[in-house]
Amino acid sequence: MTARDSTTSPTATDRPRLASQLVRRKSISSMVEDTQAASTGRLRRTFGVFQLTMISVGATLGTGILVILGEAVPIAGPGIWIAFILAGITALLSAVSYAEMAGMVPVSGSSYSYSYATLGEGVAWVCGWCLVLEYAVSVAAVAVGAADYVNETLRIFGLSLPPSLTAGPGVADSPGGAVNLSALIVVLLATVLLMRGAKESAIVNTIIVFVKLGILVFFAIVAFTAFQAGNFAPMLPMGAAGVTAAASSVFFSYIGFDAASTAGEEAKNPKRDMPRAIILSMVIVTTMYVLVAVAAIGAREWEWFRLKTTVAPLVQIVHQLTQSNLAVFIFAVAAVLAIFSVVITVLYGQSRILLSMSRDGMVPRVFGIVSPRTGTPLVGTLVTGVLVAITAALIPLGELANATSIGTLFAFCLVNIAVIYLRVKRPDLPRSFKVPFGPIIPVLGSLACAFLMINLGGTTWLVFGLWMLVGFVVYLTYSRRHSRVGALSDSDYRASINA
Ligand code: ALA
Repeated sequence: MTARDSTTSPTATDRPRLASQLVRRKSISSMVEDTQAASTGRLRRTFGVFQLTMISVGATLGTGILVILGEAVPIAGPGIWIAFILAGITALLSAVSYAEMAGMVPVSGSSYSYSYATLGEGVAWVCGWCLVLEYAVSVAAVAVGAADYVNETLRIFGLSLPPSLTAGPGVADSPGGAVNLSALIVVLLATVLLMRGAKESAIVNTIIVFVKLGILVFFAIVAFTAFQAGNFAPMLPMGAAGVTAAASSVFFSYIGFDAASTAGEEAKNPKRDMPRAIILSMVIVTTMYVLVAVAAIGAREWEWFRLKTTVAPLVQIVHQLTQSNLAVFIFAVAAVLAIFSVVITVLYGQSRILLSMSRDGMVPRVFGIVSPRTGTPLVGTLVTGVLVAITAALIPLGELANATSIGTLFAFCLVNIAVIYLRVKRPDLPRSFKVPFGPIIPVLGSLACAFLMINLGGTTWLVFGLWMLVGFVVYLTYSRRHSRVGALSDSDYRASINA
């Protein structure tokens, strides 16, 4: 093999080379071959459709409904449930595209791998970089949400951590904050669990998923005892603009349904089970969100959410309605566990995406080494976990959540485009699941994602722009030079791409 890459810095003569680097592709067959390579170790195939669905539900149901619901009600008014449906439709349109791609490209890199096989290395890098926002940064945001529930629970019982340990520096409502201790501990615990093994983590996750479905149903039952139909009038006090802005905000609550697509190499029958798990998890979470949103507004006028003094509104509603410290304690502990399972599964997804990127030379090799003892990418998980823990300990939830949503929406757009591209270029490829109605749904999916992106604020766009700029610098200085596809000779490259 002859190297095709230059190791010099980009100059005028490099430009055509950079353009060809950005569009080089990796064939689906070589991706699948890479998963069999013994040199860096193999992941173990232990998951069926049930565990895959639990991974996706585990990664999805959490902070969005337990914390961000409270922030979104004042934006939409009583019609918040419509915002959940709008965000759910956006997510579902992309979920079916994920299902088609996951059945066709059964590896662990999710949309990063789909983009590499279709739109080329440049777009794949952008996608992988966005997935770091979707996964690593969202885990940090989620851990901050878990910490909010821990702090709120302590408060209800008359206890509290010193202010310097309840939030990172620069949080407006906690000016004395130095480090978010609970968020730090939550992420480190999840990291240790993931390092022990994927199967062990999946068992813990499955138990917690049942606990979180249970407490949300419990919340709905308690809230419906105080249901006032009048709380829903007027349905949209802020008009359509309010409900669409809220939809962008609660889109965060759907992030994670694609987590099953990061388990392609640990699924027993990925082509059949990954599409089913993705769609099943979407149905479960959308139903829960609408149920909880309707129950919450039925129990409390929407203005209550604007005036409330808590970041954990559901636990406060349970407290007010039951007046039972035991009920509050059970609910709050379960809520922390619920958010903990999001941390486990999303951190799991991030480590698998980095594993795929590392195999391709896009990130350092250390992320791709699988321990023969645990069958997990041990060091990659540890490095990811520690970085996420530091982020969660220092940065507030709101900023993190919006940056996460914009990156995710962008990655979803790319998956929709990849589906259309492969339908045209490779209609021959076997598909275990096909999006119905040809390109109509992926086109609508891309447009819906673009619409929600436009509705996010200027600061979020600025953060996103800076993030992409950093990503571009990393690509130029590291990834394009270590690309394994780039190291193929021209003839090997042509042969691999036609395979
Ligand atoms: N969807 C995940 C949550 O709401 C990120 O916690």
